[in-house]
Order: sequence, then structure tokens, then C-alpha cells
Amino acid sequence: MAGSFAAALLGWYDAHGRRGLPWQVPCPYRRWVSEIMLQQTTVRSAIPYFGAFLARFPSVEALAGAPLEDVMRHWAGLGYYARARNLHAAARRIVADYGGQWPRSVAGLAALPGIGRSTAGAIAAFAFGVRAPILDANVRRVLRRYHDEHATGAVLTRRLWAYAEEKLPPDRIEDYTQAVMDLGALVCRKVPACLDCPLKGDCRFTGDAPARVRPAKPARQATLLLARRSDRRVLLVRRPAEGIWGGLWSLPECARPEDARDCLGACGVDLLDHQLLAPVVHHFTHFALHIQPVLAQVRAGPSTPPPGSDMMWHPLDQPAPGVSAPVGRLLNRIKDLP
Ligand code: ADE
Repeated sequence: MAGSFAAALLGWYDAHGRRGLPWQVPCPYRRWVSEIMLQQTTVRSAIPYFGAFLARFPSVEALAGAPLEDVMRHWAGLGYYARARNLHAAARRIVADYGGQWPRSVAGLAALPGIGRSTAGAIAAFAFGVRAPILDANVRRVLRRYHDEHATGAVLTRRLWAYAEEKLPPDRIEDYTQAVMDLGALVCRKVPACLDCPLKGDCRFTGDAPARVRPAKPARQATLLLARRSDRRVLLVRRPAEGIWGGLWSLPECARPEDARDCLGACGVDLLDHQLLAPVVHHFTHFALHIQPVLAQVRAGPSTPPPGSDMMWHPLDQPAPGVSAPVGRLLNRIKDLP
């Protein structure tokens, strides 16, 4: 049964699998960067970021030697910024502790920052041909349905890892790993295309449990201040390392537009005039952030922030440093406003 699962999957992969992706080369560095990007980003969205990232950081040594600031800038827009901080920290460990060589075992890889068991399995299989199972969200769905598994929680996870392990083929582990990911992404989707599935002869799937009605995401409110000087520079402040947009540059934030004067005053900036812009909503996994942007004409106070501080005056006509996607869009929006 295990053999027929892998054989059917590999036959399907030869005809329908995804090939020619820019990270599909036997290079641990590319395999590692791409698997981290693909943890929470689709293949299609990751491709341009991957190209730009590799052009700026062509090797693990280049990444380890770069300032974190630069890495964050290249990650800006991809979301889940802890991934970028972990990538940088892991690059430094690989260079400092392993002489630039990756550990080749799943356990060794999983000991690096940002690499869980499934990602470690994928890197080990893709980069080193190790027969290691993976269990990302797509693969979980495939195996759960194939076995019509109704357990939940930790019991379900333990069983799925066991299924993933027992199905590994004796060879072609790289193709098999990509094949099972691709089947989940292309055929065994939320609404499955069972007629197109190479496993339909043996699959026991009888239907998913009825989807629970998802409670609406809780909403949070924030007022973001676009504090613009007469020389068309905007005040950016660095976010704390923890929490949303951790470590990225952002706009000064306050609870309500009425707090703008006090908030800017605390940064040594005088508010001259302000106007509300159209609100925007940004969706995080667990909540929706309702943003009220405020365009503020300001006069900088006496002190200009020293280099290396957590404030900067960003010229609007230049590319933004590492900022989140909604802040980047807000900066673009005011570029041409008088
Ligand atoms: N998701 C995680 N890793 C992936 C990969 N290598 N290809 C496609 N989707 C993925």
C-alpha cells in the first residue's frame, strides 16, 4: 500500500508536478531560503521576492554579513517578519558554528532558528536527498483524507507523522516530497478535485467534517500618523522587535486622531495642521487592523534624530526602507498629495 501511494504520486508528478521553480536546484542555501519563504507564502507570491533576495544575498556568508536592517528591507511585504529575523540568526550560526556548511540531518536542521520538523524534513530531502517525511498543511490534508482520519489534536498529528513516514519511497525522495506538496496544492485542495487524483483508487475519503462557522476576527483600531515636513520627508519610527511588524520601520501610532498632537510632541515634532485620510483594513491571521491614517503637516523639533536611532525622516521620493505592506501603500498614497 505504501509503495502504491508513492508510485501513483510519482507517476502523477512526472506528468503534472511543478518544475522549473527558481529554487529547484541542489543548493542548500536556496532550498533553505525558499522553504522559509514558502512557510506562509504561496509559490507565485514568493518567486519575485526570492529573486530579489538571492540577488542581494547570494550566499549564506553574504546573508550572515549583512545588517539585519537590510534583510528586513528585502522581506518587507512578505509578512511574518520573525521568519526574516530567524533566517538572519540562522545564517550567522551556520557561518560561525558550522563553517558555512549546513547540518545534513533533520535534527541538526531543526535546531536552527525558524526551522520546525516539517521544514527540516523538506530541506534535508531537497538539498541532501535524505529520506525524511514532511507534514505541512497541504500534506496533512492529503494524508488525513487518504486515511479518512477523524482523530483531532495531538493524536491526529502523531498519526499523520506516522503515515508520512511509512509512505516514503526508497528513492526519488526529492521528487516525492515535491509531489506530495503539489498534490495538496493543486488537486487535494480545500474543495478537492477527486476525479483528477492519482490516489483515487485507494483513498478512503468520505467527506470533510462540516466546516465550523468561523467567528469573525476580532478588530483592533489604530491611528497611523503620516507626519510630513515641508521638505516632504515623513517621520518613521522603528517598531519593537516583538509584536506585529516587529523590527520594521513604521509610522507613529496612537489610539485616536485626537491624540496626534501629543504623540508627535513626544517625538519632538510640532503638529501644524492635519487631515483624516480614507481608512484601510489590514488582515492578520488572528485579527483585522482597522487603520485610520492621518496626514499631518509638521515642523520637526530642534533635535534631528542621530543615525542609528529609532526615528528617521524618510524622503517620500525615495524607496521606503523595510516597512510593512500597508505602511508602504500609505507612503505611496501621499507621495503626490500637495
Ligand atoms: N510549500 C512549502 N515548500 C514548498 C515547495 N518546495 N514547493 C511548493 N510549495 C511549498
